[in-house]
Amino acid sequence: MDSKRGKLTLDFSKISVEPQINAVPKNAGILTFPEGQTYEFNARNLIDKGIIGSGSYGGVVNKMEHDASGKIMAVKRVRARDVEKKERDVMLRELKMIIDSQGCEDVVRFYGALFEDGDCWICMEIMDCSLDKFYRQVYKQNERIPEKVIGFITASVVRALNYLKETLNLIHRDIKPSNILLNTQGFVKLCDFGISGYLVDSIAKTQDVGCQIYMAPERLSERRYGVRADVWSFGISLVEVCIGRFPYTDWNSVFDQLQAVVHGDPPFLQAGDYSIELVHFVNKCLIKDTSIRPNFADLIKDPFCVHYNIVDPAEMKAWRTEIGDYVLRFLPTSPVA
Ligand SMILES: Nc1ncnc2c1ncn2[C@@H]1O[C@H](COP(=O)(O)OP(=O)(O)O)[C@@H](O)[C@H]1O
Ligand SMILES: [Mg+2]
Repeated sequence: MDSKRGKLTLDFSKISVEPQINAVPKNAGILTFPEGQTYEFNARNLIDKGIIGSGSYGGVVNKMEHDASGKIMAVKRVRARDVEKKERDVMLRELKMIIDSQGCEDVVRFYGALFEDGDCWICMEIMDCSLDKFYRQVYKQNERIPEKVIGFITASVVRALNYLKETLNLIHRDIKPSNILLNTQGFVKLCDFGISGYLVDSIAKTQDVGCQIYMAPERLSERRYGVRADVWSFGISLVEVCIGRFPYTDWNSVFDQLQAVVHGDPPFLQAGDYSIELVHFVNKCLIKDTSIRPNFADLIKDPFCVHYNIVDPAEMKAWRTEIGDYVLRFLPTSPVA
């Protein structure tokens, strides 16, 4: 048998060497903290303090300490191996843009990123909890999230998304409760835009239904993606938080999911437990027709959002204290807390 095999010739000349990408050099990166200090760093400079959570795309988030500064961060590691070169460049350009311009306190701060063994390590501000874990904790104790907390979360997320769109021309692409983070100082911040959004689209092509459950009908049926697809995903997230469970039920397959989202009636919130203003706001986000569904500039003017969009600094301080105390009451006990 062996003797029939042709002579093996190896031609390495066709293997292209990837050019170094300036925004985030391979294996090393720059950390920039809000106080202004910058550090060159690599994976060896980060001390692992344990897992915070693992995500739906095979990524994992750890609490880590940067050795030179002592700064505690959340470090998300996502597989970048399968991401095409073109997408990777867009990702890196976007990340650089996000790091450079951080003028919104409703968005999680990015400190820097690097590539290590085909993974992208994204270093960001650490928060105390994500909204998915938080609302489950509240409902587990037979309570319901008060309307003013939902209102505050809504105004924070709408401000964040409006900021991303207006100043960075970014759409999020992966809005869901686990990407809305809370802390005991009463901040509600959006995370995982840009970079992860590209991963969502490239991974969603190949992966299971779990990745796509917040996706808008037009995104599933036509792969059409505009800012209003984020509005839909936010609407689904709000219904989930208001009723204490994911609003669609009975999905056995991807086919079922497509049928329900693309051809079925949208989920909606019923008046009763929450005010009519909140119900209107949520149901507006879940209009299937994208020519009628609002964008974030429209939502920021909605009476429900206006009511909770606190602008006076002293008033905001009082709100932060109140929301922070509420978050503290239901903080899930975690091994890294
Ligand atoms: N900056 C952060 N601070 C604290 N916890 C975080 C942070 N980023 C992510 N997490 C937690 O880590 C978990 C995993 O995150 P991720 O990999 O983005 O997956 P997903 O958002 O799909 O749950 C999240 O559910 C969230 O609870
Ligand atoms: Mg996430």
